[in-house]
Amino acid sequence: MKKVKLETELTVFESLDELSSDIKSLMNFAEKTRKKAYAPYSNFSVGTAILLDNGEIITGNNQENASYPSGLCAERTAIYYAGANFPNAKVMTMAITAGSRLKKTDHPVPPCGACRQTIAEYEVKQESPIEIYFMGEVGKIVKSDSLSNLLPLIFDKSQL
Ligand code: THU
Repeated sequence: MKKVKLETELTVFESLDELSSDIKSLMNFAEKTRKKAYAPYSNFSVGTAILLDNGEIITGNNQENASYPSGLCAERTAIYYAGANFPNAKVMTMAITAGSRLKKTDHPVPPCGACRQTIAEYEVKQESPIEIYFMGEVGKIVKSDSLSNLLPLIFDKSQL
């Protein structure tokens, strides 16, 4: 028997001012999109902007449903749109911002497990890492150089 330690690496930025202008602008797209989320049940809105290697920027936000499980997260709304409309493009970067209408969200909000699994699929498909930046409404921004930092031990096609 032996214990295995898994290490992961993230970069933390103190504020938007520490980001490059390209990433700041991508985060701006995410924030604009977040404001259009349909989240009447949770009052928690999430916006995602995706930069593709062909220069396209895809945005998506969470879409809720009276039958709660039928709703979809912002990250998956956006990445499925990218996959559906630009099947040959690579996802370079995702910017994610989240906030509640009930209280100020000032801590970085990472993508949920189901979204991580979905992003993992595209990272494996395109054989190159997807950079992910995530934040709350305000405050620090966390960057992961690859989805695999957020989801070690991924389940992918090699397991099938
Ligand atoms: N949500 C996202 O859009 N992305 C995540 O990664 C976590 C959660 C949405 C789903 C739901 O509409 C609301 O946030 C509360 O869970």
